[in-house]
Amino acid sequence: MKTVFSGIQPSGTLTLGNYLGAMKHFVDMQEDYNCYFCIVDQHAITVPQDRLQLRKNIKSLAALYLAVGIDHHKSTLFIQSEVPAHAQLGWIMQCVSYIGELERMTQFKDKSEGKEAVSSALLTYPPLMAADILLYQTDIVPVGEDQKQHLELTRDLAERFNKKHNDIFTIPEVKIPKVGARIMSLNDPYKKMSKSNPNPKSYISMLDDEATITKKIKSAVTDTEGTIRFDRETKPAVSNLLTIYSLCTGIEISELEATYHGKGYGEFKSDLAAAVVQALKPIQDRYYELVHSDELDDILDHGAEKANKVATKMVKKAERAMGLGR
Ligand code: AQP
Repeated sequence: MKTVFSGIQPSGTLTLGNYLGAMKHFVDMQEDYNCYFCIVDQHAITVPQDRLQLRKNIKSLAALYLAVGIDHHKSTLFIQSEVPAHAQLGWIMQCVSYIGELERMTQFKDKSEGKEAVSSALLTYPPLMAADILLYQTDIVPVGEDQKQHLELTRDLAERFNKKHNDIFTIPEVKIPKVGARIMSLNDPYKKMSKSNPNPKSYISMLDDEATITKKIKSAVTDTEGTIRFDRETKPAVSNLLTIYSLCTGIEISELEATYHGKGYGEFKSDLAAAVVQALKPIQDRYYELVHSDELDDILDHGAEKANKVATKMVKKAERAMGLGR
């Protein structure tokens, strides 16, 4: 059975972008793959986090994984900082990466741009991400479009290590969804929807209530043309809304275009809001049952134990290959 690894940062409440671009696909994958789903809290601290809020976000993300349908009997769900091998292999991967290639990462450029104090970990985030993936002999990494560059670097680092030290790492493949790989911000269709965006109107959180979702969708930017059709080049905002609508309902974009032919943005937006509410409601109901339960802690304890067994073996192999220790 092939292995899948994917991680999400607890850097805020997940957005519809995280859900449609990543999480939604995890549920089907667990039927056919040996899956590891990780709450990458060590990645979240590459930018400043409030201690109590981070704790809350970690639990919330764990509950969301389960609420969308991750089954802990089939998949391993765990917190990155509870498996020390991640940081250990992260260091080794830093030693095989070059500053130049890390500085070329778009996410580093975006997140450091205009900032006075940027943590060095923001630069070395990709080697830690490589470690996350390589520890589990991962074959496939399902991610949104924004992570493609980091995945390519992971492959390069693994190949470099295998060639230079010992052929121990599986070279992972990236799996990007055909539709929804890049859900855009509601108030700027040229920027991706992000949970850490300071303007909450730019995203729909997976935990937003009906009134908030409706309000946010009603205020989403469109264009002055007034027609509902998909064209990323000339109508990026409307195309983004059509993508969200299609993914939330399973209705093809062409069918939506036909349904809304001759209709206005007002009607389209209120139907879209209803579709998003309907998609998120069952997830939210399950989430609130789980988030403060003992069951959640038990699942995370069990996940950490399982992940630690596999990851510790792998980091030892990597250390031996490099000549560390006795
Ligand atoms: N807008 C998006 N559309 C589609 N997929 C997306 N993903 C993120 N944003 C979108 C995918 O969600 C997974 C988890 O992402 P992450 O939390 O590890 O980091 P990120 O990609 O940096 O996501 P955010 O929401 O933008 O977080 P912040 O604001 O903290 O940086 C990944 O598979 C990602 O591709």
